[in-house]
Amino acid sequence: MKGPFVIAVDGPAASGKGTIAKRLGETYELPVLDTGLLYRAVGVLAQKAGDIDDPAACKAAAATLTADQLADPALRTREAGELASRAAVHPHVREALLAFQQTFAGQEGGAVLDGRDIGTVICPDAPAKLYVTARPEVRAERRWKQLRAQGEAVSLDEVRADIRRRDARDGRRDAAPMRPANDATLLDTSEMTIEQAADAARRIVEAARARWETS
Ligand code: DC
Repeated sequence: MKGPFVIAVDGPAASGKGTIAKRLGETYELPVLDTGLLYRAVGVLAQKAGDIDDPAACKAAAATLTADQLADPALRTREAGELASRAAVHPHVREALLAFQQTFAGQEGGAVLDGRDIGTVICPDAPAKLYVTARPEVRAERRWKQLRAQGEAVSLDEVRADIRRRDARDGRRDAAPMRPANDATLLDTSEMTIEQAADAARRIVEAARARWETS
C-alpha cells in the first residue's frame, strides 16, 4: 500500500527551503514542519540548562521538548541557529526527535517537512524530495537581510562566517549529515526570486505527485 504524500525539502541554511516548504504546503494543502525549529529549541534549552556541547544536557532538552515551544520568536535568532547546529551533532538528540518528525510525516493526507536529513533519514520513502541549494555568498546575503529585518545588529562578514561554519558542521557530522538523498531533485535558487524558486519547486513536486498517483 502506498504511504501518504510526503514532501521532503532539505538543504543548507538560507537556501530558501523554508519559504519553498511553506509555499508547497499552501499549494497542496498539507501541514508543514520546519524541523530546524526542533533543533533550535533543543539548543536554546540546553544552553539555558548548562552546556550546549554536553550530549547529556542536549538529550535531556530534546526529551522535554513539546510542540507548543516551537512558536517562540527567540528560536529565529542568529544565536539560536548556531546553538541548533551544535546540538544537532549529538546522535541521541537526533534519535529523541525522530518519532515526533515521523509521526508528523505519517499524517493521513501527507505533510511537508524541511530540514537537513528528511529525505535521507526521517522519510527515506518520501514520494517527493527536493534538495534546495544556493551559493554561500547568496545565502549569506539573504540571511543577513533577514536578521537585520528582525532587528539583529550583525555584519555581512559575520553572517558569511556563520554560514561557512554551519555548512561545515552540518555537512561533516557523523550523525545524519546534511546531504542530498540519491533520489532528490536538486534546485539551485542562487539566481531565482522567491516566486521563481517556488514555481520551480512546484514543477518538481507536480512530476513526483503524478508518479505517486499512478504507483
Ligand atoms: O534550518 P535551520 O537553519 O533552522 O536549522 C538550524 C540547525 O539545526 C542546522 O544548522 C542544523 C540543524 N538541523 C538538523 O541537523 N537537521 C534538521 N533536519 C534540521 C536542522
